[in-house]
This record gives sequence, C-alpha cells and structure tokens, in this order.
Amino acid sequence: MTKKIAVLAGDGIGPEIVDEAIKVLEALAKDGLDIELAYGLIGGAAYDETGTPLPDETIEISKSADAILLGAVGGYKWESLDISVRPEKGLLGIRSQLNLFANLRPAILYPQLADASTLKSEVVAGLDLMIVRELTGGIYFGQPRGIRTLENGEKEGFNTLVYRESEIQRIGKVAFDIAQKRQGRLCSVDKANVLESTELWRETMTDMAENYSDVELSHMYVDNAAMQLVRAPKQFDVMVTTNMFGDILSDCASMLTGSIGMLPSASLDESGKGMYEPIHGSAPDIAGQNIANPLATILSASMMLRYTLDEPAMADRIEAAVSKVLDQGLRTADIYSEGMTKVGTSEMGDAVVAAL
Ligand code: IPM
Ligand code: MG
Repeated sequence: MTKKIAVLAGDGIGPEIVDEAIKVLEALAKDGLDIELAYGLIGGAAYDETGTPLPDETIEISKSADAILLGAVGGYKWESLDISVRPEKGLLGIRSQLNLFANLRPAILYPQLADASTLKSEVVAGLDLMIVRELTGGIYFGQPRGIRTLENGEKEGFNTLVYRESEIQRIGKVAFDIAQKRQGRLCSVDKANVLESTELWRETMTDMAENYSDVELSHMYVDNAAMQLVRAPKQFDVMVTTNMFGDILSDCASMLTGSIGMLPSASLDESGKGMYEPIHGSAPDIAGQNIANPLATILSASMMLRYTLDEPAMADRIEAAVSKVLDQGLRTADIYSEGMTKVGTSEMGDAVVAAL
C-alpha cells in the first residue's frame, strides 16, 4: 500500500536539506518503496504566507500522512514576532497536536568522524547512545505561563514545570522497551534533589523498573549527566529525560559525534506514527549557500523507514550509503578535516544516492 509522507521543509536550511532526503527516498522508490509526498508549510515560511506558523492545512496533511519529514524552523527574520506566532510555535504545536511525546535522539559516532569531534577520539570512539526525550509535556507546555506586571510595576516572566504520572509512565515505557532491545542499561536523568516534578519522575521510573528485570535502571542529576556526557559518554546506553533536559543534553551529545549536522531524530506517538527531523536548527546564517550538512535529515528519513514505514532493509541501505560516502572522504564543511574532499549540500545528497 502506498505510504503517504508529509513533507514540511520549514525555514533556513530546512528546504535544502529536505530536498536531499527526498532525493534519497525517490531513489529508493525506484527500487520499490511505495510512497507519495504531500507538502505543507510550517514555521516562518508558513507565517509569511498565512499569518500563522502552523496552518490548519499543515495539521490536516500531517494527520492524514503515515509519517512526517520535517526540516527546521526559525530565523532572525521572525525573532521579534510575538511568541505566540513565532516559527518555534509551529514545531511545538505539531508535536503537541499529533501527540508525538516520544523523541528518540540517537548519537552514534561514525568511526570515520572520530577526528571531527572536539573530544579525544578514544573518549568517543564506538559511541552509540540513545537519548529518549519527553516531547509534549514539562516546562515547554506547562500552564500557567507568561509575562506579567507585578503590583510594584516590575515585570515577571514565569513558566510551569509539571509532569503527571501517566506522562512519565508512557515515556518510561518507550525508554525501557528500547533499552531492552539494546544493552539493557537505562539512565533516567532528573533534578530530583531540587524539583518535585522530577522527584515524581524518579519514583515513577523506579516503580516501572520492577517490570523490567532485564533492564538495569540508574538515576543521574542533570548537571552530572551533562558532565558525564563529555567526560565518559560511553558509560551510557539509553538515557531518558524531560523535555527541557533532553533538549539540552541532546545538543551536548551531538558534539560527541563530530557535528550536530549528523544527528537524526524520531518523534513518535502511542501508535508509532512519527515525525522525523534532524536535531539541529534552521541555521539561518548558512541558509541558501549549499553548505549545510544534509546527513542528519537523510538519516532521519532512514529512521522513518525503520520506525514507522516498516522498511528496515531500506533503512539499512541508507545507513550503509552514508557510511560509504564518509569512507570516500566526502565531507560537508561542518565535518571537514584536512585531506578530505569538501562537498556541498546537494553533492553530498547525490553521493548518498550513488552509494545506495
Ligand atoms: C529541538 C529544538 C526545538 C526544541 C526548538 C526549535 C523549539 O531546539 O528540536 O531540539 O527546543 O525542542
Ligand atoms: Mg534543541
């Protein structure tokens, strides 16, 4: 049956990198991958055209699709807009409206890139870590929130960090299940020494561990986790954490792999339907120059084939092709090192297609 993919390119480098992922999917379509693409607007591009960063039509296209491929949102141009219509609201809105609560952010170091990391290669060589980030709750969505004026005339900004047991349990289940299929080690990251919401997080994870005798659960405070990620990242197999901590730790983890331009992600709902996007942003400073790294987006397409479209062999082919172009010495600027061949965004996409 034909699988429908909603394509939301967004802003900045979004359209360029998404184009390359589509090239790869279309190449696989020639080999029998049965897909149909439907394009929608999101972020600043959507705001410019429709006055909102998340038009109803985009939600409809996305809801009716089997999977969503997203580029990135945001840019200088929209930074001074009211927060309610900023491009980022489009992204948060689609995550929330589609209930994409489970964000999987793998950080895998391709051996060819061991020297591209700012960390010593022995610290990062062989790194294969999965961060499971809660994506539709916590301080990103908690109410009340806003900026108010106090009686003395001073302004006050406020947000709410709130987690229900059921929200913790459903992300916990995803993380435990993944840990079971990997090395069986799960580290839950919180700030339970200070924040009650994450004290409940810790208690809930601990309770769940009773049903997962084959998973070894540990707990770590987020400040220590950030330190451990750069000190000895290979101690981790799977990490599970809140929305905001996961945002921060996954950027940190990306640098272990050489470049944030390499990291894909999947955001899944309860049924496994998902939105797939690189973890990096829209990089407006390099947009339109054909220098962005499309590999995170291409690898996101591979995650889509694996997690939602049930085409693991096609996913393997993409991952092998990415590895092959790295073997060939092809590098975009972000992962370039001496002696390698520097290529642009579209050349990198072409090379992956050729390597398929
Ligand atoms: C991410 C991004 C987003 C987030 C922004 C663009 C809203 O940083 O996907 O990590 O904070 O979730
Ligand atoms: Mg982020």
